[in-house]
Amino acid sequence: MTETQLSRYRANAEGYFGEFGGAVLPPFLVEPMAEVAAAYEIARNDPSFQEELQSLLSKYVGRPSLLYFAENLTRELGGAKVYLKREDLNHTGAHKINHTLGEALLAKRMGKTKVIAETGAGQHGVALATAAALVGLECEIHMGAIDVEKQHPNVVRMELLGAKVVPVERGGRSLKEAVDSAFEVYAGSPDEYLFAIGSVVGPHPFPSMVRDFQSVVGREARAQILEAEGRLPDALVACVGGGSNAMGLFDAFLEDESVRIIGVEPAGEGLDSDRHAATMTLGTVGDIHGMRTKVLLGADGEPAPVHSIASGIDYPGVGPQHAHLEQLGRAEYVSVTDEEALNAFQLLTRTEGIIPALESSHAIAHVVKLAPTLSADSIVIANLSGRGDKDVDFVAERLRK
Ligand SMILES: Cc1ncc(COP(=O)(O)O)c(C=O)c1O
Repeated sequence: MTETQLSRYRANAEGYFGEFGGAVLPPFLVEPMAEVAAAYEIARNDPSFQEELQSLLSKYVGRPSLLYFAENLTRELGGAKVYLKREDLNHTGAHKINHTLGEALLAKRMGKTKVIAETGAGQHGVALATAAALVGLECEIHMGAIDVEKQHPNVVRMELLGAKVVPVERGGRSLKEAVDSAFEVYAGSPDEYLFAIGSVVGPHPFPSMVRDFQSVVGREARAQILEAEGRLPDALVACVGGGSNAMGLFDAFLEDESVRIIGVEPAGEGLDSDRHAATMTLGTVGDIHGMRTKVLLGADGEPAPVHSIASGIDYPGVGPQHAHLEQLGRAEYVSVTDEEALNAFQLLTRTEGIIPALESSHAIAHVVKLAPTLSADSIVIANLSGRGDKDVDFVAERLRK
């Protein structure tokens, strides 16, 4: 693929993916974000930064993660061969550690003493607290009060790792409010902190930077499937909240036009209810958290209250590159309900002995629909973005109802 074609999928120097992205910021935050962008540009091109990151990814995180042929699930579904990219096996149990190590190393290079971030399911918070402990930074995590309750084990983990966890009681008490709250604190002293955003969202450079850090997932998966099957897959499937695990898997395959790219978002209690977070499916173009992207807006023109059984994906915005890929027709976006995700959670656990995160269960739920429609010589790779230990109490309770 030529540079011109590749650039169709990438952001320009101002961080715009077509009409999406950018840095939609109050004037006093323009300079601090431009500093982050400049520092990342230098780090990205510095072999010593890349070597340190690669070394941590292999020696600390345990990369490469496995690409596992789920033979039992494949037999159960009948149809395409299903492979799982096992990000759940990473240290801390999810893909988030891939970008938090990059963010922590960047913070250190920039002379920051603290990192601050939001978290939904707590996986980004745990991963950032871990990276901060390793690299020697203070860490502050804002988390919606509902999620603090629902994802209690992750709150304990963050505190044990030395992070300050701030429960956010306002509005829907969920991920969006956690971002708002962390952003406010950051805006008060941008010199002190790096705002270590937890997904491919926010102002430039975060959508591109977090994607770059996560792109190791797709690079490995591409090499692993060529090794195992001697050819590329027919489809990639990943859940989309902000969209970091999905962009991580998709990035290395964007130029392979024969590979279908499918993002799965939460339909919650149904697309016709007001309890979902299907931003790509039902959103409109708007601004949220420093970026122009697709947003679920309420009647008042503000981001709508959203719902998903999976705390990490109940977000009314989405990474701008996803909106761009959809507009270019390079990626498709579908949704599955809470119920379908819960069923997939149990199906994968019983057939393969792998307990997936409720977020990742959304990807599996779509594979359940897709695989039987494809021939037995087709190949699907699903990103198993995290493990479900954090969700077992909640699921057990829910199944008792
Ligand atoms: C396991 C897991 N998968 C997916 C997500 C969603 O994030 P993203 O869409 O950025 O991958 C989360 C967020 O907390 C998560 O914990």
